[in-house]
Amino acid sequence: MPPATHWIVGPGAMGRLIALRLADQVPVTLIGRRRLPARQTLVTPEGDTRIAPLALERIDALPADIPTMVHLTTKAHGSEAAHAALAAALPDGVPLVLWQNGFACQPRLTEQHRGPVLCASTTEGAHVQGDDRVTHAGHGQTFLGALDGRHARLASSLAQTLSAAGLPAEAVDNIHVRLWRKLAVNAAINPLVAQFAIRNGQLRDRPFRPMVERLIAEVAATLTAEGITPPGGGGLEGWRKLVWQVVEATATNRASMLQDVQAGRLTEHEAILAPLLAAASRHRLSVPCLAWHLHDLRRRAAALAEPPAAC
Ligand code: PAF
Repeated sequence: MPPATHWIVGPGAMGRLIALRLADQVPVTLIGRRRLPARQTLVTPEGDTRIAPLALERIDALPADIPTMVHLTTKAHGSEAAHAALAAALPDGVPLVLWQNGFACQPRLTEQHRGPVLCASTTEGAHVQGDDRVTHAGHGQTFLGALDGRHARLASSLAQTLSAAGLPAEAVDNIHVRLWRKLAVNAAINPLVAQFAIRNGQLRDRPFRPMVERLIAEVAATLTAEGITPPGGGGLEGWRKLVWQVVEATATNRASMLQDVQAGRLTEHEAILAPLLAAASRHRLSVPCLAWHLHDLRRRAAALAEPPAAC
């Protein structure tokens, strides 16, 4: 029987973290637009350094073997182009795992992909240094499930493999709720820290605190109308608790959206804010702060004039 290869498409921080962790358990090929050094270093949250050889391929020269599973770890705005680049090389039935933030590509790719689609919502944190080093900044938790409510066995078996690889994971039957909860946190934190170029913890101080509270109120009203509850329930209070807990836990972080703005990259506003605005409009809710941030981030994106890269 051929080895069960997992393709990881999108060699950013999360892609390389998953590849280096999974490589302990299953054969892995990391796929991107350009070739990276084959020897990659993983720095663990405990400060240990592990060097592992990885099979690396370019997306325009895909390997001939058929993967047992494809993980898409691109930014949200690169996911559909990456999937289109892969689709011709994949026979029907190969499972796809979507690791993107937000709630934009997940429903569309669940429809389009000719095989099972799982979504992952993770709180793992990682960042890269150069082309050959990734730091696993802190241990998190990953939830896995299919938006169409199917493939529970596949989700459980992947959760076991990831957990054994040092990325604790759990199969859940409400992945859409998990994705919206992460989106809610991102929507309340990321646009503000990107706008003011501040670390997450500074949101606790004036003048930012009331701005966060206004965003939480708009997010809470929208998600309540959508039937999405915060962990533990509790309406507005539940959403406030969740967002401020994350601000506390990530106080020294420069959030991903801030890093993207500072590096002149496209941000994930279309995946995070646009689905909220669409939901608010469906429920005839006014969300002026969210709308202002989406408009502002679109204005910044237009000034970049950089087409979304495949991965
Ligand atoms: O986007 C990020 O960086 C993170 O999801 C979060 C939670 C905002 C922490 O920095």
